[in-house]
Amino acid sequence: MPVKRPKPLVLANWKMNLSVAQSVKLSKSLVSSFTKKKLADRLTLGLAPTFPALAAVAETLKRKPVMLGAQDIFWKPAGPFTGEVSSVVLKELGASFVIIGHSERRQYMKETDEMVHQKVQAALTEGLMPVVCVGETFAQRQSGQKDLVVSRQVQEGLRGVELASEQQLIIAYEPVWVIGSGQAVEPAEAQDTAKVIVQSLIDIMPTSVIERQVRIIYGGSVDTSNIQSFLSRRPLSGVLVGGASLEAKRFIELMSKL
Ligand code: PGA
Repeated sequence: MPVKRPKPLVLANWKMNLSVAQSVKLSKSLVSSFTKKKLADRLTLGLAPTFPALAAVAETLKRKPVMLGAQDIFWKPAGPFTGEVSSVVLKELGASFVIIGHSERRQYMKETDEMVHQKVQAALTEGLMPVVCVGETFAQRQSGQKDLVVSRQVQEGLRGVELASEQQLIIAYEPVWVIGSGQAVEPAEAQDTAKVIVQSLIDIMPTSVIERQVRIIYGGSVDTSNIQSFLSRRPLSGVLVGGASLEAKRFIELMSKL
């Protein structure tokens, strides 16, 4: 039986761009327009503010059809890990998803596929939906390694990961070199890479799980002019938005395109 296509997923990654007060203000403004325009009928929205803003943003999302997410997680549930934040605390604060292995963390914090793997397991154990970011650098692309790199990140990050029947896993394909550049990749290319991701998953997960519980989304300079072209290309079924999610009017306009 064909699997019903879910509503497009739109996730906002606010990175370290906003203060707590700014995050709350933006969230309130987004929630108000999102509700007025009945956008929840057409898409699923999630916001990922900086850690210290999670509790305050959670307040603004109470009883609203908008998910809260974190931008990172540690792989142990508790213990002597100075500066880290656990899945238990994220859940307590009201998060339902967590971004894992973003290229900025891979680059600046030297996160490896092994760390990504442990973080995914930690998130799933606590019932958080992992949003695993994969993508090639410009140099890797230039040397013809794109598919290899993406495939390795998917397989090493996710091998052995088991999803309970109600759990979902999101894989965000984000070509590192277009993030924040204002210039997204060609939607057809993102679609091809999304297919490579599906192929890579087939080696490590049952097809029925891939079909029903894994979604592939695109991230990297998504804006009002290109969002539709990404979402019309299966298996892509959502977007991870950075810069274009930082201003309420612009972000609502982007979502209204769907
Ligand atoms: P961008 O960021 O939309 O600003 O390119 C996307 C991301 O890094 O997730």
